Amino acid sequence: MTQELTTPAAVQERTRPRTGWWRDAVIYQVYVRSFADGDGDGVGDLPGITARLPYVRELGADAVWLTPFYASPQADGGYDVADYRSVDPLFGTLSDADDLVREAHRLGLRVIVDVVPNHTSDQHPWFREALACGPARERYHFRPGRGESGQLPPNDWESVFGGPAWTRVADGAWYLHLFAPEQPDLNWDHREVREEFDSVLRFWLDLGVDGFRVDVAHGMVKAAGLPDIGAKEQAKLIGNQVLPFFDQDGVHEIHRHWRELLDGYEGERVAVAEAWAPSPERLALYVRPDELHQAFNFQFLTCPWDAERMRATVDASLAATGAVGAPTTWVLSNHDVVRHVTRYGGGGQGLRRARAAALFTLALPGSAYLYQGEELGLFEVTDLPDEVRQDPAFHRASGQDGFRDGCRVPMPWTADGPSLGFGAAAPWLPQPASWRGLCVASQSGDPHSTLELYRAALALRRELPGLGDGTMSWLPAPDGVLAFARPGFVCTLNTADHPVQLPLPGRPLLTSAAVEFGAAHASLPAESAAWWAI
Ligand code: GLC
Repeated sequence: MTQELTTPAAVQERTRPRTGWWRDAVIYQVYVRSFADGDGDGVGDLPGITARLPYVRELGADAVWLTPFYASPQADGGYDVADYRSVDPLFGTLSDADDLVREAHRLGLRVIVDVVPNHTSDQHPWFREALACGPARERYHFRPGRGESGQLPPNDWESVFGGPAWTRVADGAWYLHLFAPEQPDLNWDHREVREEFDSVLRFWLDLGVDGFRVDVAHGMVKAAGLPDIGAKEQAKLIGNQVLPFFDQDGVHEIHRHWRELLDGYEGERVAVAEAWAPSPERLALYVRPDELHQAFNFQFLTCPWDAERMRATVDASLAATGAVGAPTTWVLSNHDVVRHVTRYGGGGQGLRRARAAALFTLALPGSAYLYQGEELGLFEVTDLPDEVRQDPAFHRASGQDGFRDGCRVPMPWTADGPSLGFGAAAPWLPQPASWRGLCVASQSGDPHSTLELYRAALALRRELPGLGDGTMSWLPAPDGVLAFARPGFVCTLNTADHPVQLPLPGRPLLTSAAVEFGAAHASLPAESAAWWAI
């Protein structure tokens, strides 16, 4: 499936010395609204983040990924962009973005920003122009309706957030929106759309960003003729099969072009795909040598706590990305999914498993993304009052991700203050009282805390030459236990709910729970992971 590398930029790519920094980078996701509030309005912002960058550096990450901070009516937390080249006043100014990038670079952190190419905001000048009819409509997907008077949507596609993927405008035509009605889908067959995004990418690259997280990277191209799917509850099919609006082969041409554009810049700028592809093999197409650098491994994120299934997912992922020469990009949580402490069962069990999963994941070959607050062991907030929720999917019945506010609750930094150190005012979503004990200040310096576990793991990852990029091999292990070796190193994971004995794998380096060991044997506690030097 690998494409021939024939374009001039691709040839240049092969001959130019590269560091491949991204191949094993640990990248920390900052959800901009919820990280740190610098101006005391209850919402996180860019100056707040800049002030907290030393924390990310001290944690041991290599880069930050910032969610969208562009001018936006915030119909979908900023994923509805009205101006791709300006900063929303809620989050600061362009000069604040510039300061953030400069300060990150001074600290040795790279900066990845979101780009949202599948759709604009309905307040984007292009869409306002399109409402007035005429050729401006061709930048979007406008169609006449079905039925005698065009009263029915043009096809049976459903929005990911629930309800039909079409909305009718005053003159009777319908426009396509795979997400909220405030997010009309762009028509990527239109030359101006492609040119505009080249220019947007260049704008941020010129400002100094190190790369992009490509929102809905699998969605820009729709099957010709926009055919019916013939199935209900389509959101449930996402990631399981190829749909006429997702993972169409045509998207790869766009990614190849973007790679050429990125390669034209100094400093190895990168792109990571958010692509919900139905199989590891389909996902690997996004990271062929002349396409994007990384793609989030959602197969691993959605894998249940089961040793055999975790092993099979790791194997399938490494085989698929290995076949195209790319690393795998591990991720356990982000701003769209239930936090993994809660996915793994919540409470003490969820936290035990989450700590173990962190060590397991950070020992695998490849790159890893961390979602802000996972290093504190934060859980999903499931009891938010309806009136404070802002996720558009919550307000549109039966969508795929109806409860995404619970993973977006602002970070707790200190044990007191109106927002646990997030800012000077009450935060835009209330924090649970129990987060006092989970705040950064409470966990710092406590060797048993989750924060110190992450700090130690990331420090070791930098020190041990056998971690990061490279290969791994499975070792024999009892039922429910996974053990794998990397050069000079072994990782064990006991998924069982009881301790398991095994021959001593080596000298213990780091454990998610207290391991007992003698001269020849070790006892792995229930639901724990350990790193061993060999
Ligand atoms: C991506 C984003 C999500 C957003 C959607 C539409 O999945 O991660 O937050 O709602 O795209 O832009």
